[in-house]
Amino acid sequence: MTQKKNILTGDRPTGNLHLGHYVGSLENRVKLQNDYNQFVIIADIQALTDNADNPTKVRNNILEVALDYLAVGINPEVSTIFIQSLVPEIAELTMYYLNLVTVNRLKRNPTVKSEIDQKSFGESIPAGFLTYPVNQVADITAFKASLIPVGEDQLPMIEQTLEVVRKFNRIYQPVLIEPEALISQFPRLPGTDGKSKMSKSLGNAIALADSPDSIEEKVMGMFTDPNHIRVEDPGKVEGNPVFDYLDIFDPEKDKVKELKEDYRRGGLGDVKVKRRLNRVLQNFLKPIRERREEYAKDPGEVMNILKKGSEKARIEASKTVTEVRKAMQIDYF
Ligand code: TRP
Repeated sequence: MTQKKNILTGDRPTGNLHLGHYVGSLENRVKLQNDYNQFVIIADIQALTDNADNPTKVRNNILEVALDYLAVGINPEVSTIFIQSLVPEIAELTMYYLNLVTVNRLKRNPTVKSEIDQKSFGESIPAGFLTYPVNQVADITAFKASLIPVGEDQLPMIEQTLEVVRKFNRIYQPVLIEPEALISQFPRLPGTDGKSKMSKSLGNAIALADSPDSIEEKVMGMFTDPNHIRVEDPGKVEGNPVFDYLDIFDPEKDKVKELKEDYRRGGLGDVKVKRRLNRVLQNFLKPIRERREEYAKDPGEVMNILKKGSEKARIEASKTVTEVRKAMQIDYF
């Protein structure tokens, strides 16, 4: 029997997970969890790199993110869900890896760059924030992960991981694994406003935990083709998030094809298409919400899953740290 390979992936606990997370990564995690040894990290230390002044937010979202994981079907019996700060070996590895990365390289990381623009740090970029990609390299390598299911925005992080791994293995000993990103079939879900990315901070997200009313309100208020004014007008399907969502979530593909043709031709109103999308998303999210509510009745039990997962994760990461220290000749006794 060949040994299962490892997956490491996860999220920052800064808010409820949404449909973008689902199609970007959660779906793959559920699909792959039986074929891989999967570790799912709730990255609280990374979350603090730009929320240092808001520890309560990070703290409260640990449970929220864990509930989202369990709700979509990440099974704690087969996947190890853990809290980053409870595995201090990751912090230790981060410190070692920082010597293998230059400040200029970090400043060029496209994801970090766009986050810096978005967050208005000005000249006051926290050193922890600039270096969080290195912390993420530690997350990945601590678990000898070879596959990383993530959204497209995380590709620069995998790129940086490869660079550090190669450099480490060349300078010291070849103990680290080169990981590969697994990008979903729909790598970037647009927001309800039609902007290129669904994001809680942009206010254009449908959360997995949203109530039926809130889902309906968001769907009925979605951006569509702005030139499709009267029902008779021909409409555009491209760049129209209502159709993007139907493509992804509507199980009746033939029907979607037909709707698109009608919309393009003219004669199909936005309200009608949105009503269909509302039904589709309500059906999709209902079992997720119900499972979430079930787990939410016993938060102690959920926290216990995280505690046990973190203990297990720590054992795994310690093994890597032992090898790393040896490779770096800091294994004194
Ligand atoms: N940076 C990821 C995000 O913002 C979260 C994350 C932390 C992560 N550590 C990771 C993702 C390791 C993949 C692998 O969503």
